[in-house]
Amino acid sequence: MGSITVVDHPLVRHKLSLLRRKETESAQFRLLLNEISLLLGYEVTRDLETEDRTIETPLAAMEAPHLSGKKLVLISILRAGNGLLEGMLDLIPTARVGHVGLYRDPETLQAVEYYFKVPDDLGDRPVIMLDPMLATGNSAVAAVERIKSAGARQLKFLCLLSAPEGIEAFHAAHPDVPVFTAAIDERLNDHGYIVPGIGDAGDRIYGTR
Ligand code: URA
Repeated sequence: MGSITVVDHPLVRHKLSLLRRKETESAQFRLLLNEISLLLGYEVTRDLETEDRTIETPLAAMEAPHLSGKKLVLISILRAGNGLLEGMLDLIPTARVGHVGLYRDPETLQAVEYYFKVPDDLGDRPVIMLDPMLATGNSAVAAVERIKSAGARQLKFLCLLSAPEGIEAFHAAHPDVPVFTAAIDERLNDHGYIVPGIGDAGDRIYGTR
């Protein structure tokens, strides 16, 4: 069975409640999503490797921990994934970035790929996939399959909200990929939207509706 970590820190829960409100406009929505990304990012990167290096403080030399190993890769599932990407890059400015473009066929709710650009050497690097909504799980499952076929072996999936149906589908397809989320909502509606949710993440980030 796959693992799921719900990052339910009071700051995350509070900011998520503000973000969910239908009156929250795009500028404020992006700001809150950015702040939540920092807090989720803190948790999802908890096991990054460090190594001690000698440094000098104004008072003494010491062995101090620094991030080590190959640079992390952040992969945004377009377009809403970019809403999480900004905060993650504020936290880890040296990360490499990839993009996967998928849209949901409105009839079948299946993911169709229209864009793919990722760093070459995925196999040697930790990879964090970003998509605010784990709803039906179809696009998340397809995006992770695609990234695995490009060579990635150490993957995590980070989302803002998830639905039980999406978690089940994702774990069935990718039990080896841990999921991190700020909340597990009640259910999906007939259009595959998370309820109570936030509505369409892309539209709310970019003010397209
Ligand atoms: N995508 C969204 O943007 N919102 C949902 O609720 C589900 C999928």
